[in-house]
Amino acid sequence: MGPSQSARHLARIALRQWRTGQTFADEILARLLRSSDLIAPDRAFTTELFYGILRNLSLLDFWIDTLRAERLDHDARDLLRLGIYQLFLLDTPEHAAVYETVELANPRNRSLVNAVLRSALRRKKQLTEKVKKETLSVRTSHPQFLIDRWTKTFGPENTAALCERNNRPASIYARINLLKISAENFLSVHSSAERLPRHQNFVRLTSIPSDALAHGHCYVQDPSTASACVLLDPQPGEKVLDACAAPGGKTGYLAELMRNQGTIVACDRDEGRIRALQDNLERLGVEIARFAQHDWTSGEPLPDAAAISPFDRILVDTPCSNTGVMRRRVDLRWRLIPKDFSRMREEQRRILRATISLLRTDGVLVYSTCSIEPEENEEVVKAITQEFPFLKFVEQVSLLPFRDGFDGAFATKLMRAA
Ligand SMILES: C[S@@+](CC[C@H](N)C(=O)[O-])C[C@H]1O[C@@H](n2cnc3c(N)ncnc32)[C@H](O)[C@@H]1O
Repeated sequence: MGPSQSARHLARIALRQWRTGQTFADEILARLLRSSDLIAPDRAFTTELFYGILRNLSLLDFWIDTLRAERLDHDARDLLRLGIYQLFLLDTPEHAAVYETVELANPRNRSLVNAVLRSALRRKKQLTEKVKKETLSVRTSHPQFLIDRWTKTFGPENTAALCERNNRPASIYARINLLKISAENFLSVHSSAERLPRHQNFVRLTSIPSDALAHGHCYVQDPSTASACVLLDPQPGEKVLDACAAPGGKTGYLAELMRNQGTIVACDRDEGRIRALQDNLERLGVEIARFAQHDWTSGEPLPDAAAISPFDRILVDTPCSNTGVMRRRVDLRWRLIPKDFSRMREEQRRILRATISLLRTDGVLVYSTCSIEPEENEEVVKAITQEFPFLKFVEQVSLLPFRDGFDGAFATKLMRAA
């Protein structure tokens, strides 16, 4: 098998694993790439194929179903997705796309895959025209229930802009870590890094800066993640709780804002993620973090709570549906189901509720998500301020991908009155 053939083969295995399980695409791909000996360009091609197909799944299926009305087995459909994605959306040379894809087919499906791909080539213009009359759901490959809920919240034009944006690969952004390097020094070493005017120490990069990451000179994160930290506004010497901290993007920024003075108690319920958090913070030169594995929904108190609370400031960056970061989570749209939003809202409220008694009077609590759904954002804040009337609303930031140009993010600042 030649190298790019192996890339197609690996993409096909990834598709099968994704289709037959519940594991997210990034995890499947990382595992497969780790155990393969493909060279860098072929790894990139595997990623392009796998992620590209997931981003365009219902569009590809629309073309496949137009070309062949009869039932297809899953394996044949995956190969046709692979072939048509290359022919229509990647502009891979026709011979390679057809030949190499047919080569992957088992003997039973070989002539079928060959015939459908050749027919797709002949009808390419007609098929690409035909899809323009289809619904947004087909054209941009998003489940109809998401389109319906976003249309209700943001209107049809914003929804179309959001869906189109979700299908464009995300830029690489990083925060320069001032605990380790000055912005000037970073920029003199990374001359292609482009500074973002409204996000002081964030840069846009053309590739992952592996060296700088290894030295803790920067941390890859979207500028939208800064807003919760800026709203929390932690001061040097304070005692801060980061309730859902892993893998540490926000904790690292909080430590920088505190100039590495004071204490941050960084919690998470997931042991593996706490290890990643510890590694990341160590690399970033954070010296003021203490770690605790704790599940805020367990009903148990935070270990050592009496000794370490009350906190001056608490960040509650809860798990959420992640609908603000769909550009980066290509298959999330196919894994979400309508009741996820109310389920998440209840979990978010439970986590928040468990942290409130740890906040001192006049202390600040920031609640944040990377969701763009009102249930997980404004509705949670409304419910929690009704339940705890001593929590006073101070300020709110809501970033929407189609309006603000970065990932979606939501953060509300509350203050505990006497
Ligand atoms: C949105 S992520 C946090 C991202 C992090 N703040 C950052 O900036 O890198 C949410 C985290 O909450 C953790 N988590 C989920 N449910 C939890 C719970 N009940 N108690 C504590 N942590 C929880 C997850 O393991 C996950 O690491």
